[in-house]
Amino acid sequence: MNVLVAGGAGYIGSHAVKQLIAEGHRVVAADNLYRGHAPAVHPKATFLKIDLAETTALSEALRREKIDCVMHFAALAYVGESVAEPLRYYDNNTAGTISLLKAMRASGVRRMVFSSTAAVYGEPESTPIVETQRRQPINPYGWSKWFVEQILHDYAAAHPEFAFAALRYFNVAGAAADGSLGEDHDPETHLIPVLMQVALGRREKVTVFGADYPTPDGTCIRDYVHVEDLCNAHIAVMNALQPGDTRCYNLGIGRGYSVREILASAERVTGRAIPHEFGPRRPGDPAVLFANVEKIRNELGWSARFTEIDAIVATAWKWFEKHPEGYRP
Ligand code: UFG
Repeated sequence: MNVLVAGGAGYIGSHAVKQLIAEGHRVVAADNLYRGHAPAVHPKATFLKIDLAETTALSEALRREKIDCVMHFAALAYVGESVAEPLRYYDNNTAGTISLLKAMRASGVRRMVFSSTAAVYGEPESTPIVETQRRQPINPYGWSKWFVEQILHDYAAAHPEFAFAALRYFNVAGAAADGSLGEDHDPETHLIPVLMQVALGRREKVTVFGADYPTPDGTCIRDYVHVEDLCNAHIAVMNALQPGDTRCYNLGIGRGYSVREILASAERVTGRAIPHEFGPRRPGDPAVLFANVEKIRNELGWSARFTEIDAIVATAWKWFEKHPEGYRP
């Protein structure tokens, strides 16, 4: 298939580009390089520096490249930043996707695999979270994604040939097993990369945000899914999409690890002590988030291959050890 990967120079998008190429697809990686990295784009992909807001240029590219499906990863994804700058999030994530859909409509592209988030559930009613659980985001980031899911439903209802899948990610983690790609965010706020930076001595210590949660060890529990498993799920979903499909799936491993467990794993994997301190809770962090992943398993036969946290952390460590400066030469 001819696939346009929006956000193809980002953390997850770049892994998707690599896997699509490995499976024989022709890939156009589109990215505005605001937070993406040009060196992360696979050399066999066609790179297009473009912003989601450039509807006409996007539509020309979709037509010229005879695109069959869009995988849409291009988004701002910091919860805290979304609270401080909501308009940027609605502009880039929500209005940006409307622009992309307009471009798809103008060029006759009828398939989209959309990166959604567990943040659409907000404070969960119960765990594990099933896809039908109430969607009630608690920050603009989650709303910006949930609005897109709703827009996709409305668009699909009006255009029966259109098909989409919204994939609700839990905590995406790890790096390409061959060490070629990984996470390079500035600022870095995610737990596993922060731990790797502490292990490398690039940060002094990690602060554990809250040790008084109602969980067995007092720290938050999350569902960490390996980035390559996540990208495999995208390809499985893309291959399954039929005209008129409106699908949504949780993407996780279906079990949770606490912050203390991740810290212990990082110490085992790196063989280094990781200095840490316990601080107050971070506002907006639910105590426990993990996915029920039965739906995608039953419908598409997909499940994560990486289910043990040490194996996930080991891939992140391989990347950080080899590339302490990320993509900077
Ligand atoms: N944590 C720390 N110290 C740190 C960083 C994180 O204790 O320095 C804790 C957090 O409090 C949380 C856990 O580690 O309990 C994971 O935090 P991350 O920041 O790595 O990830 P989040 O769970 O906050 O966010 C992820 C995605 C978001 C998405 C959200 C869905 O990165 O994009 O899941 O709930 F919105």
